[in-house]
Amino acid sequence: EPPVKEQPIDPASMEQRIVVGFSQLGSESDWRKANSRSIQEAAKEAGIRLLFENAEQSQEKQFEAIRGFIDKKVDVIAVSPVIESGWEPILQEAKLAGIPIILADRAVKVSDPSLYVTTIGSDFFEEGRKAGKYLLDKLRNEPGPIGIVELQGTAGSSPTIERGSGFRDIIGERGDLVIQRAEPADFTVEQGRETMRAFLQEMGSDIRVLFAHNDDMAIGAIEAIEEYGLRPGEDIVIISVDGTRKAFELMVEGKINCIVECNPLLGPILMQAVREIMEGRTLPKRIVPQESVFTEGVAEKEAANRQY
Ligand code: AHR
Repeated sequence: EPPVKEQPIDPASMEQRIVVGFSQLGSESDWRKANSRSIQEAAKEAGIRLLFENAEQSQEKQFEAIRGFIDKKVDVIAVSPVIESGWEPILQEAKLAGIPIILADRAVKVSDPSLYVTTIGSDFFEEGRKAGKYLLDKLRNEPGPIGIVELQGTAGSSPTIERGSGFRDIIGERGDLVIQRAEPADFTVEQGRETMRAFLQEMGSDIRVLFAHNDDMAIGAIEAIEEYGLRPGEDIVIISVDGTRKAFELMVEGKINCIVECNPLLGPILMQAVREIMEGRTLPKRIVPQESVFTEGVAEKEAANRQY
């Protein structure tokens, strides 16, 4: 009699049982769209069932989504928090229901760190420092005073707070680098364009540097600068964050001088973390993806490699 063949267990069918609720904060930028895609694709790949809710920049909607996930008794809740504050009560609700929370991309400010398992995302403070270091080097032979404007992201969000303080931490070394104006422009092309228009109306060619907290705002600002009759990348040094393909194309044209990379492709790391939680393993409190800084010299070569 031939030996009975053992049936291999299909890992996808086992993991089909894992259900993750993900509260995405919105779709404000190309970065965010790539981030949503990465998470959806990685869940599919891992055979994990993903309940995806887009909160369109509303913290209230994020709370509703999380309550919905608790009602559905999902295995793990992942959330990308639109702003840093106000999370304690809802995270308590999830904790009471015994559902682990993973923070994806942005961080929260809570006094009890046991309210979430881990934060998977970039070191925004370091990104701000990288932007500052580039600027110090770029303008090392240029005498001051040097006027800087800053397009910040969403007010109260962790990347806005941290990028701003990392940048100041470094440029503070040179007293003649002066941030003349800093305004939130919500990480969007439209707000970037409008806010830069206003800066130019007020300060015109006194602006020597733009630090944009993301590529979308930098792209909007470039339109405003050209409309005003100045040359982006030459008259105004432009430093941006993210590293989208569109921004790289503008760097190839010499209109952006430096891009600090912020990696949106967090899906595979997130699904791995979900699996480890389900296996009862302990995760580090902070998981930071690999990121680089790109300047004009490498723009052409790198532009072709961009995945988002
Ligand atoms: O939280 C990450 C930031 O949010 C990205 O830099 C920005 O593009 C996005 O909207």
